[in-house]
Amino acid sequence: MKTRVTELLGIRYPIVQGGMMWVGRAEMASAVSNAGGLGLLTALTQPTPEDLTKEIARCRTMTDKPFGVNLTFTPRPKARPYMEYAQAIIDSGIKIVETAGNNPEPYVIPFKKAGITIIHKCTSVRHGLKAEKLGCDIISMDGFECAGHPGEDDTPNFVLLPAAAAQLTVPMLASGGIGSAEGLVAALALGAEGINMGTRFMATREAPIHENVKQAIVAGDERSSTHILRKVRNTSRIYKNSVALKIREIEARPDSTFDDIYELVAGVKNHVVYQTGDLEAGTWTAGGVMGVIHDIPTCKELLDRMVSEAREIVGKRLSNAFA
Ligand SMILES: Cc1cc2nc3c(=O)[nH]c(=O)nc-3n(C[C@H](O)[C@H](O)[C@H](O)COP(=O)(O)O)c2cc1C
Repeated sequence: MKTRVTELLGIRYPIVQGGMMWVGRAEMASAVSNAGGLGLLTALTQPTPEDLTKEIARCRTMTDKPFGVNLTFTPRPKARPYMEYAQAIIDSGIKIVETAGNNPEPYVIPFKKAGITIIHKCTSVRHGLKAEKLGCDIISMDGFECAGHPGEDDTPNFVLLPAAAAQLTVPMLASGGIGSAEGLVAALALGAEGINMGTRFMATREAPIHENVKQAIVAGDERSSTHILRKVRNTSRIYKNSVALKIREIEARPDSTFDDIYELVAGVKNHVVYQTGDLEAGTWTAGGVMGVIHDIPTCKELLDRMVSEAREIVGKRLSNAFA
């Protein structure tokens, strides 16, 4: 395939594996890159910047294809040393970074000086335009469907993508709710030059998470995710398990505060779920795209299949409709 995204990133398919806390390790990123997409390590999964440096080196032993690093700035109880992570990325010679979660401004100049291509992921047209103005090279638009943080505007991709494409001049990735060839074709039709996927990559053979989580994603459907943290304007789409429902119940109480759910949302419990396969051990991130995920292929099988089916959709179904 050829779009401005494949050209800019030096990859075969315009398909990016978005940053995924706890999941975005060398096994995941290298498998996606080896399959012709762009794999991303997730910086904050590593406890320290030094650990990130080691993980980047480990990933290099697993692929000779381009891969990048996601750096997410989120409101966290304990702030992480973001600039030190950024420096570790630069010093390691990484050439592609996905920023997300907040305004990337403090990091744009150092990253650009180091010759890094910046993909900024955001959830609104105005933030996309701001990032473009700051010098980001690709904007990844994360619609309401996305797993993780969809923002507070609730704009689904059918509206968000064409609205953003009409105003951005840099290439755009479509993110959120994509897990099949249909999604890839639709994203391109809506003005994107590539796609970003999270949940779909969790249900692959190489994803470094427990088999139970992968099976739960396959068994899940379009109603198996839910939103929490709306009350504190940090909305998060996660798998709808008993912990998620408990959080929602507490949040619905008029007098509840973040302190009442703090223990239940502790991020470290996601890790326990992914490691042990105990699906009720805490919250864990997955999106409604579960409704179109029916198997656990290798990353290569997944990407080859998506692209060949997309070709068929364009060549047959769509061209027939316009005959
Ligand atoms: C398990 C998981 C963890 C995630 N963690 C992060 C993260 O740390 N930083 C980030 O920018 N996005 C994160 N995301 C969001 C993804 O990068 C991507 O934007 C999103 O999954 C797209 O929606 P989809 O799951 O419907 O494909 C995460 C998603 C998942 C599924």
